[in-house]
Amino acid sequence: MTPAPHHAAWLRATRQSLAVGEAAPTPPGPGEILVRNRAIAINPFDGIVQSLGGLVTPWLRYPAVLGSDLAGEVLAVGPAVSRFAPGDRVVGLALGVEKAANRGAEGAFQERVVLREACAAHIPQDLAFEQAAVLPLAFATAACGLFLPRHLGLRHPSLVAATQAPEEAVLVWGASTSVGCCAIQLAAAAGYAVIATCSEHQFEHARRLGASACVDYHDPAAPERIGEALGRRKLAGVLCLAVGAAGACIDVAARCPGSRRVAMASTPVSLVDAPLDRQLGWKLRRLPRLALGFASLSLRARRGGVGTSAIWGSSVVHDPWGSRLFQDFLEPALASGSFQPAPQALVAGHGLEAIPAAMELLRRGVSARKVVVALPGALPA
Ligand SMILES: NC(=O)c1ccc[n+]([C@@H]2O[C@H](COP(=O)([O-])OP(=O)(O)OC[C@H]3O[C@@H](n4cnc5c(N)ncnc54)[C@H](OP(=O)(O)O)[C@@H]3O)[C@@H](O)[C@H]2O)c1
Repeated sequence: MTPAPHHAAWLRATRQSLAVGEAAPTPPGPGEILVRNRAIAINPFDGIVQSLGGLVTPWLRYPAVLGSDLAGEVLAVGPAVSRFAPGDRVVGLALGVEKAANRGAEGAFQERVVLREACAAHIPQDLAFEQAAVLPLAFATAACGLFLPRHLGLRHPSLVAATQAPEEAVLVWGASTSVGCCAIQLAAAAGYAVIATCSEHQFEHARRLGASACVDYHDPAAPERIGEALGRRKLAGVLCLAVGAAGACIDVAARCPGSRRVAMASTPVSLVDAPLDRQLGWKLRRLPRLALGFASLSLRARRGGVGTSAIWGSSVVHDPWGSRLFQDFLEPALASGSFQPAPQALVAGHGLEAIPAAMELLRRGVSARKVVVALPGALPA
């Protein structure tokens, strides 16, 4: 059955506003499922691709459909798909802007999305689509940084709770970010103690997710506090999830006993405030600072004997182990309640037209919240 046309929030060219319009139906191919989208989460990357696509995703074909995170119901499955059936409730990582996919049909900002089977997981009946949608890119990014050998290369997470006290600790810098909420839980599930940096008002939240110690990153003595929290344990690695925080992360890795590896998901300076038009002034001010930031991090890492790597979160699904992560870890962990879909969804609006305002809300900043847009359930089949 060929699906009916639906609507998408199109990005017709780089630096354009999103425009809601009709999208041609795309039946799922081999290893793919077609999902009726019920909730979309917004990531900082969405706004960065919209305004700086020429720099960060130069391969992107236009018109494009942005968006990585969604949850909804399976409408149809492609050939050779056995894990899913129409009607299943799923959460999924949409790869539309990825170089390997690069097609509008796989972007999250539309009513019907083609998902790859490896990037989807069933969700429990009592988990709302809006809350499930907070997970995919954050989960993939945390797993990518923590476990892939080119990043921290840690032991893999287990569904069985560890019985021994952890001998090593992971530092999650930016623990109240969406990625941090997943990283705390994944590192704890892999048997590591987790030292979390976040604002003090998020300590309780980080502890509930499994952090064993919390340090306020605003405290100028945060690196010393982290050393104290580490105690006699060794550092297994540092996951840096906040803009401008990599320097402090490198310093901690250089001075603490253990692994001297820092995996970075964020840039040295912010890119989220790039304007859509009249970018030249912004670029002349910001891009030299960005280049200088990377150069000084590289020098600092070399001086401290620290290895650094830059994370591309969704690449985890191209790894042999990572390609089973949604199926073998996320799905059973959500079903058993051992993995929390955190942070809490902040529903910013309903319908595709609400996406630009939701992106603006995220640009202004959130604390332990994921900005989500709900989509109406009543679409013709
Ligand atoms: N490379 C990739 O593939 C990839 C993928 C996804 C995300 N990212 C990046 O990863 C970062 C996190 O993304 P997200 O969507 O999870 O962010 P988010 O949830 O929007 O981040 C908001 C949080 O940032 C925290 N924060 C701000 N400055 C901080 C600092 N200096 N140190 C520690 N925490 C700080 C705030 O903590 P408090 O409220 O506790 O102060 C707040 O909770 C972003 O930079 C994003 O661009 C990269």
